Amino acid sequence: MKESTNASQPDRLIKVRTAEGEREIDIYSPEGFAVMANLWTRSNWQRKLSYEVTWLGIPIIQLPEDILMVQELVWKNRPDVIVESGVAHGGALILYASLFELLGRGRVIGVDIEIRKYNRLAIESHPASRRITLIEGSSTDKTTLDAVRSRIQPNESVMVMLDSNHTRDHVRAELELYAPLIGPGGYIVVFDEVMPMVADAPNGKPTWDLDNPLEAVRDFLTSHPDFEVDRSYERMATTYCHSGFLRRMNPAS
Ligand SMILES: C[S@@+](CC[C@H](N)C(=O)[O-])C[C@H]1O[C@@H](n2cnc3c(N)ncnc32)[C@H](O)[C@@H]1O
Repeated sequence: MKESTNASQPDRLIKVRTAEGEREIDIYSPEGFAVMANLWTRSNWQRKLSYEVTWLGIPIIQLPEDILMVQELVWKNRPDVIVESGVAHGGALILYASLFELLGRGRVIGVDIEIRKYNRLAIESHPASRRITLIEGSSTDKTTLDAVRSRIQPNESVMVMLDSNHTRDHVRAELELYAPLIGPGGYIVVFDEVMPMVADAPNGKPTWDLDNPLEAVRDFLTSHPDFEVDRSYERMATTYCHSGFLRRMNPAS
């Protein structure tokens, strides 16, 4: 291998420890890319990088790569309605509403167990707000689901974004309740499958190893063979949505 001409540049070989022992890998190889993506995802999670981002002025708690991928999905899939569970400041609602503004159609329904006064004010006074409806309540409560359903017409196509309480049980329950809204070719996106990856991070929790949205997705897929993971939206490699883009297959496929 050629020696680096730039003395300040780190070596292209990095040492990794695996179950099989210690070895060097080339950062320009596919394996090196995967290892670097894993390290960068864990490191940026610890730095709370996803809390640094805003969309059209409103904080959006997402990794930039995931925002890009969701933007691609919405533009391509063009649902009539997007339901988001877990609003927080509302940045993702504004992202979806701003895309719908450009498309000239589409509505967004945001559900959160607690919509804080100033977040509501910022969302409702935003230029994209006319496409947004806010519903306060737990996403798994019957009254909340009824309120969501009552705002969707039977012929409308729906996309669901699950980003609220990230425990396995809660996400599993949400998947069961919201999946019937999705028609063939439609998507549910489940966020924060990064949790088992960062269970051992300084700010992580060992319980996340098993109690996380990824386990909920795995469980859901075993009993819902009409859904599949669309890996094309994981191609940025740095993502918090591992196995998170779930597509409902067409009956014939
Ligand atoms: C990670 S934040 C959502 C971030 C937001 N989707 C974004 O992209 O900026 C999680 C949100 O879920 C909400 N939440 C927690 N438990 C909930 C529940 N049972 N039902 C609905 N929302 C819940 C919290 O209040 C919080 O605002």
